[in-house]
Amino acid sequence: MDECCTPRPSQYYESFDARFARRLDRHYRRRGLTRPERRIAERIESDGVEGTSVLEVGGGIGTIQLELLRHGALSTTNLEMSGAYESAARALLDEAGLASRARRLIGVDLATEGSSVEAADHVVLHRVVCCYPDAVALLAASAAHARRTVVFSHPARTWPRRAVVGTANLMMRLRGKAYRGYLHSPDAMYDTLRSAGFALDDIVRAGPWRIATAHRT
Ligand SMILES: C[S@@+](CC[C@H](N)C(=O)[O-])C[C@H]1O[C@@H](n2cnc3c(N)ncnc32)[C@H](O)[C@@H]1O
Repeated sequence: MDECCTPRPSQYYESFDARFARRLDRHYRRRGLTRPERRIAERIESDGVEGTSVLEVGGGIGTIQLELLRHGALSTTNLEMSGAYESAARALLDEAGLASRARRLIGVDLATEGSSVEAADHVVLHRVVCCYPDAVALLAASAAHARRTVVFSHPARTWPRRAVVGTANLMMRLRGKAYRGYLHSPDAMYDTLRSAGFALDDIVRAGPWRIATAHRT
C-alpha cells in the first residue's frame, strides 16, 4: 500500500472512540456476545480451541477473545489501531481472571508491520476489513500469521449497503474526518486466502454480516 494511503491510528481513534467502546461494553455486559460474534467463536471452538493461540485484528474490547479464553484458548493477542478500548478491555479481562493470558497491542498494523507480530493458531477479524482500505493486504498478512484458521466477517456488498457506506463516507468528509468505510469485493478477499494456501470452508450469514471460515490445507 502507498505510504500516502496507509491509515494512521488517529484516523481510527476519532471514529472508534471512548463512547463507541462504552457502547460495546454496555451491550456485552447486558447481553453477551452479538450473533455474529457468537458464530465466529463457535467456528473457532468447533475447530478446536483448547490450548491454542488466537490473534485478533481490530478486536475492540475483546469479547470474542474472552469467550475463547473461557473455552480453553491458551493465549490471545489483540491488535488495535484505536486505543479507546483499553480500559473496558482490561476491566473485562481482570474481572474474568484472564488478563495474564491476553496481550493487547495498539497501533500495530498487521498489513504493514506484520514481522513484529507472532503467528497464532487462529486469526480473527470481525467488522474490520470494511474499515481498512486494503483488505487484500490485511487478509494476506492475516493468512501469513495463521497456522490453522482464519475467520473473518465482511458486510454483504449489496446496493442498499453501498448507499449506506457512501452516505456515511460523505458525512465523514463533510465533518473533516479522515476515516472511511469500504465494501471490498468478497471474491477478491476469498481468493486472497486461497492463494495463501487456505481452503474456504463456508460463508455463513449473521445479520448484515457474512462470516467466512478458511483452513490451511
Ligand atoms: C467497527 S470496529 C470493530 C471492533 C470489534 N471488532 C467489534 O466488532 O466490536 C473496527 C475496528 O477495526 C480496527 N482496525 C481497522 N484496521 C485495523 C488494522 N489494520 N489493525 C488493527 N485494527 C484495525 C479499528 O481501529 C476499529 O477499532
